[in-house]
Formats: sequence, C-alpha cells, structure tokens
Amino acid sequence: MCRPKTQDPRPKTQDPRPKVLTLKSPAKINWFLEVMGKRPDGYHELVTVMQTVSLYDTLDFEDLPRPFIEFRCDLDLGPPEKNLVVRAAQAVQKTYAEKRGARITLNKKIPHGAGLGGGSSDAATTVVGLNQLWNLNLSTEQLEQVVRSVGSDCAFFVRGGTALCTGRGEIVEPKPLISGIDLVILYPEIVLPTPDVYRKLSENLQFERRKCNFFHRDALSLDATKVATKVFNRLEHVALRVSPKLSDVWQRTADEKAVTKRFVSGSGSSLVFVVPDESAARALAQSFEKRSLGRAFVAKSVAGR
Ligand code: C5P
Repeated sequence: MCRPKTQDPRPKTQDPRPKVLTLKSPAKINWFLEVMGKRPDGYHELVTVMQTVSLYDTLDFEDLPRPFIEFRCDLDLGPPEKNLVVRAAQAVQKTYAEKRGARITLNKKIPHGAGLGGGSSDAATTVVGLNQLWNLNLSTEQLEQVVRSVGSDCAFFVRGGTALCTGRGEIVEPKPLISGIDLVILYPEIVLPTPDVYRKLSENLQFERRKCNFFHRDALSLDATKVATKVFNRLEHVALRVSPKLSDVWQRTADEKAVTKRFVSGSGSSLVFVVPDESAARALAQSFEKRSLGRAFVAKSVAGR
C-alpha cells in the first residue's frame, strides 16, 4: 500500500538572519620569561610560560554574502591593514576560504601596549571564530599555523591555558594548568612598545640564563605562594629602565601587604600582583585606583581561552 504524500505546510524560505557568533578573547601574563639570545632574523629566542587570565575583549562575527572583511572597533586602533584582526581574517580567507566574507566587531577591554597580548589574542580569536562561522573544520594545528604569521604570541591564544612557548614565542607546548590564582593587573596608562624593550635588552645580552622550574614535580599543585617562588621576567628591569614613569609606579607599589609576588607582564607596561584570594584582590585594586596609579583589573589565571 502506498502512503499518501504529506506536504510540509511551512514555506521553504531560507532563514534571512545572518549568522552571528560572539567570542571572548582573553589577555595573558607571563609567569616566566627568559631571553636566550638574538636570532639572525632580528627576533629574540625565548623560553616563556604564558598564561591566559580572566580579562577579556569580545569579538562578534557576522557572515557577509560577499568576500570582504569589514572591521569595526569601539576604539581607534589606527589603519585597518595594520590591525591584527584584519590580518588574521585575511590569512584565513586567503588560505582556506577565498569566497567568504565577514563583519568583525571588536569590543576592547584589554589595554594596548600593556604586555597583555591583547592584539595577539584578538587575532587568534579571529581565526577560531571564522573557523566556526564559515564551518571550515580546521584543526587546532591548522589554526595555530595560519595565525603564526600575524605575531609571535598569536599561536598560544588558539588554545590558551598554561603553555611553555619557545622560538619567537610561537612554538607552543601546552602544560599542566596553573589556574585559579588570584591576581590584580595594574595598567599604569603607559604604552610601552615591545620593540623598544627588546632593543634596550639587546645592548647587553651577557647574563646568566635562568632555568624555568615551573613544571617540576613539586609544581603540580601550584598555589599563590609556590607560584611566587618561580616567577621570573628577564624584560622586567629593562621595561623599568625604558620608562621612568613605570619605574615610579613600581616604586609606589613596593609595600603592599597582601601581595605574595609582583612582576611586569611580558615587555610591560602592566604590573601583575599575585594575592591569596579574591577579596584581597578587590581591596588592592580599589586602593590602586584611589591612589590614581592606573586602571586596576581583578582577575584569575584561567584554563583555555
Ligand atoms: O612578533 P611580534 O610582532 O608580536 O613582535 C613585536 C616586536 O617585538 C618585534 O618586532 C621585535 O622587535 C620584538 N620581539 C623580539 N623577539 C621576540 C618577540 C618579539 O625581538 N621573540
């Protein structure tokens, strides 16, 4: 017996709404950073432990029916062709999706020129976002590969969490997470260009190299006190020398009672304060803002991105 044919009463129209996706883009700090030497390509060979933290930019991705990348941001970030989001989107488009287009809107919260990797993170979030928006099914390794050309820190942000990064910083080895550490990140409203800090360091590369001991057996359950004994940043003193204003803020934050460790993140200008818990973090951030030392963010080290 034949079944009677039933008809779907709904009209077969396409969903007119464009596909939109919103992703968070985390900042990073460096628990450890040693410079091994200068490379023939002008970059510096690094051993660094990178860590994502709970301070985020936000990116919206919207599908466009034509192969353009439209970029919008709530702040003026200079010419679009230099923007890391645009460069990352163009790299994905060129390599994997020539006919696709997107409107990308960036909402900035991570300060710029602060050693927090904001631009690199936004670039990584762009390749992750377009992979989803355009259903490209690219692997983590392919995403890392495509964003590596945009900047040294970018590949790390594809996965985030805790990682040992070597080479220019672009060779990423995921490590056991150092998550849940309470922090205050102080941005002293100083833009410190990364090349200036490396250039100053290059004047004298004759120093004894520190070994990274973050991933020894005793480090498996790291709390604020243990982390404090292992933190190191070769660029810290250089950043303080390059910027007298940063050096002044450094001196004015020397005697905070609750702080187990204070350090410069990456090439600066942000200062990171490790504290025992969130209420200590809130009190410290308030005190920094009251004393007009800069913008203070209460944050935690986090897993992933
Ligand atoms: O790779 P990225 O564009 O983020 O690097 C910015 C600048 O920082 C480089 O132009 C270089 O001056 C310096 N740098 C370096 N060695 C690294 C990473 C960055 O000298 N490993």
